[in-house]
Amino acid sequence: MADQSNHPHPQSHTPIFTHFQGFWCRSEFVPNITSFQNHFQALDDDIVLASKPKAGTTWLKSLAFTILNRHRFPLSGSPLKTSNPHDIIPYFEMTHYNNGRIADFSGMSSPRLFATHLPYHALAESIKQSNARIVYVARNPLDIVVSMWHFERSKPERADWPLDECFEQFCRGEEEFGAFWDHIPGYRKQSTENPKKVLFLKYEEMKEDAVGEIKKMAEFMGFPFSVEEEKAGAIEEIAQFCSLSSLKNLEVNKNGALKTVSWNRPTKSFFRKGEAGDYVNFLSPEAVERFSKIVEEKLKGSGLTF
Ligand code: A3P
Repeated sequence: MADQSNHPHPQSHTPIFTHFQGFWCRSEFVPNITSFQNHFQALDDDIVLASKPKAGTTWLKSLAFTILNRHRFPLSGSPLKTSNPHDIIPYFEMTHYNNGRIADFSGMSSPRLFATHLPYHALAESIKQSNARIVYVARNPLDIVVSMWHFERSKPERADWPLDECFEQFCRGEEEFGAFWDHIPGYRKQSTENPKKVLFLKYEEMKEDAVGEIKKMAEFMGFPFSVEEEKAGAIEEIAQFCSLSSLKNLEVNKNGALKTVSWNRPTKSFFRKGEAGDYVNFLSPEAVERFSKIVEEKLKGSGLTF
């Protein structure tokens, strides 16, 4: 693949980042991404959940899994009660193809659910060429900055990571799988050009109207709710089951660590406040103004606002 320039990430507190194929990622993921791109064979009924880190991926995974498996598991017996969403739907680039291995999906039943943080242009060609569908969740980049800062600071070795440093990094577009101004419009463009291929959701709209967005997701994924299900309140039940407070209070998400990734990530670090606009509690008005200008300028022409 073209454009592999190996710039060590300039920030002292950050892991070694590489600018690879036009986006920033941890150097250790490069062989995984290459293996995924070279070997993954999409099936027409695959569903890929895509997002920038901290955009609401955990929520998206739990919703997609529950929508798809609602006739298989009653909510009371959902695997989400005993496993973190990231262990149920792992990432291509962090788990399935970890250490550059070739993943074996022969034991997986269809429709298969996958997840990725990769930008659209870096997806395996077979995903783009097949009828596989992609559900993308976007979030106000200001909230992503703050959420990312909290997430990283929950790692003992980064407990003293200054918010300023995180903020400056995002201002320069030096963020994992970013810049956001490439990642978000990249998927947005695909959803505009081919709405059957990519469903573009916003975290803020999901907060505003979870039921409406879940319904939209189910239709897009090919598993629409029947009139009877709607009348019986099935969508509301799923919204409640996958809400932050409900997932956060499960034992599996209070204690323990992810099982399917090599790094020992506590499950609780994926659940914090879950609010839209929490950035005002952490960033100064000047910082907000400066970042908002970057967002506005970089997303100009994409039809996107936050
Ligand atoms: P905050 O840090 O703003 O609270 P990701 O899942 O992409 O890593 O994003 C994590 C963000 O999503 C965190 O945001 C987290 O609290 C929030 N989140 C996790 N589960 C959620 C849920 N079920 N509903 C709403 N937000 C959720």
